[in-house]
Amino acid sequence: MNASPPMPEAIEPGSGVHAFPHRHLTGIEGLQPHEIVYLLDEAEKWIAFNRATTKHDPLLAGLTQINAFFENSTRTLLSFEIAGKRLGMDVVNMAVAQSSVKKGETLLDTTATLNAMRPDVIVIRHDASGAVQLIADKVDCPVLNAGDGRHEHPTQALLDALTIRRRKGRIENLVVAICGDVLHSRVARSNILALTALAAEVRVVAPPTLMPAAVERMGVTPFSDMDAGLDGADVVMMLRVQNERMEGGFVPSTREYHALYGLTRERLSRAAPDALVMHPGPMNRGIEITSDVADDPRVSAITEQVETGVAVRMACLDVLTRGRRGVPGW
Ligand code: NCD
Repeated sequence: MNASPPMPEAIEPGSGVHAFPHRHLTGIEGLQPHEIVYLLDEAEKWIAFNRATTKHDPLLAGLTQINAFFENSTRTLLSFEIAGKRLGMDVVNMAVAQSSVKKGETLLDTTATLNAMRPDVIVIRHDASGAVQLIADKVDCPVLNAGDGRHEHPTQALLDALTIRRRKGRIENLVVAICGDVLHSRVARSNILALTALAAEVRVVAPPTLMPAAVERMGVTPFSDMDAGLDGADVVMMLRVQNERMEGGFVPSTREYHALYGLTRERLSRAAPDALVMHPGPMNRGIEITSDVADDPRVSAITEQVETGVAVRMACLDVLTRGRRGVPGW
């Protein structure tokens, strides 16, 4: 587990020291704990703003945001679009299904086309791990990863960390059990990186076929028995069974999966009495989680995760465009 080094003392504008010295947000990997905390603190400021009736701040007015989602999405796409619009940007969603990608245009040609339109920020989701980095290396503006294959989904991990911090008051020393299809999950990977960096004790619970090899190297403890993995956990983070990333054979049947790894009320009683239940969505109700658990606002933070998601994306869009906007000290 990484011990978190303290946040540097006050960062003076113009000192050349940046609170977030990265051009892109392609992953949690490579971020310092204090940089993660900085993004969470910045996001916290937008939560109250988003609860007001008038939700418009011209902070990023005049800038253009392109959302290029080569893979399906409901909440991540909407939340990036809402985040950009609330900050005054011109937000354009590239309609991949009607685009030249369907005529066989290569990713690099599509990238060059997007770049030539001079966007100020590009948000990308792609089903190939590493595709977002490839694009980030070729364009002239900041790139935000909205999920690439099984690799990373950094804004999801940030919104999950913010949700936990708001509900529990801290992240350090909490026991977080990440349960389900860990093997195919970029959400799990980014969360493991973020939560271990913030000094939580992270467990991963999965059937042996859905457990990544050598996962302990990421500083987590693996469990194949869900009851043991949930024992005393402060946070239970459920993952969707990602059928679209499986080619046969990973799970014998959904009934058996539910019996062994589904989060039911009874199984949740193994966790701490005030355990928080999370799920990034979309949920397979009745498979990885039962509706009575998912829909109980006393235990479930699932709708709060969506709310913090907008705030986190606003913070990331603001921070990553500061250099272009000539914000002093960036
Ligand atoms: C996740 C994703 O797409 O990685 N969903 C999301 O962004 N809220 C998780 C999933 O698809 O299971």
